[in-house]
Amino acid sequence: MKGILLAGGHGTRLYPLTFSLSKQILPVFDKPMIYYPLSMLMLAGIRDVLVISTPAALPLFQQLLKDGSQWGMNFSYVEQPEPKGIAECFVLGKDFIGDDSVCLLLGDNIFYGHGLPEKLMAAAQTGTGALVFAHPVSDPERYGVVEFDETGKALGIQEKPTNPRSHYAVPGVYFYDNQVVEIAANMKPSARGELEITDVNLAYLAKGELRVDILGRGFAWLDAGTHESLLQAANFVQALQERQGMMISCPEEIAFRRGFISRDELRALGQQMAGNHYGTYLLRVADGKV
Ligand code: G1P
Repeated sequence: MKGILLAGGHGTRLYPLTFSLSKQILPVFDKPMIYYPLSMLMLAGIRDVLVISTPAALPLFQQLLKDGSQWGMNFSYVEQPEPKGIAECFVLGKDFIGDDSVCLLLGDNIFYGHGLPEKLMAAAQTGTGALVFAHPVSDPERYGVVEFDETGKALGIQEKPTNPRSHYAVPGVYFYDNQVVEIAANMKPSARGELEITDVNLAYLAKGELRVDILGRGFAWLDAGTHESLLQAANFVQALQERQGMMISCPEEIAFRRGFISRDELRALGQQMAGNHYGTYLLRVADGKV
């Protein structure tokens, strides 16, 4: 399975922070935002990742993430010249995906929860069809919203509905088989001029090939797209990390624990940052102390 990280958009809701910086590079406490969704792909066991961003921001991501080999990963990069919608990533990523299945992560989505790595590993083994998640939120009108029947079967998904039929939003992590390439290629832009990811999911639903897995109250799904939610996400990460003495979504640690890099490679990464808590943490992981 391949992975796509979509880090596009102008981040208008975060102006003036995003006048000159891409939203997904902004810090969420001690890491650039994109480390969090990237960690999800790594936890799913995915090592080939395409990063898609604006022409202005793409070089910044290349500088940050490099070719991925430092973490045992393989990163490629493609520009999204205009923000034409999330589903355009399967058009832009057609060659990268090839005959494979693909997992898409939105670059501003942050997840945390017990059992999440196992869920992601299982999802990456998904054979045919699509798998998305649903998570309860207090403001469903901001998201894609799933409607279920009384047996828990998904009936439909509405994108940013004025009157949501449930409080279950679809978070920005999506697993698809290879049909997604053709589905996206044949899509038409919505009223707001975008290729909607919700329309991709509806196409799978219409074929009877969409599974919706509920991420219940034991999970945290944060989006860091506004000033308030960015600060809340940072506070959440800081509070948990300090309390537990373990980092959330640390790509270096995941790379080591998943066997993508050796103990010595992790130690070398830690030494680059040995003057702060991030580097010290990597060295402690390398020494088997975490
Ligand atoms: C997008 C999707 C929406 C999804 C959300 C998750 O919204 O269109 O269906 O629920 O991501 O973050 P946007 O970020 O474009 O507002």
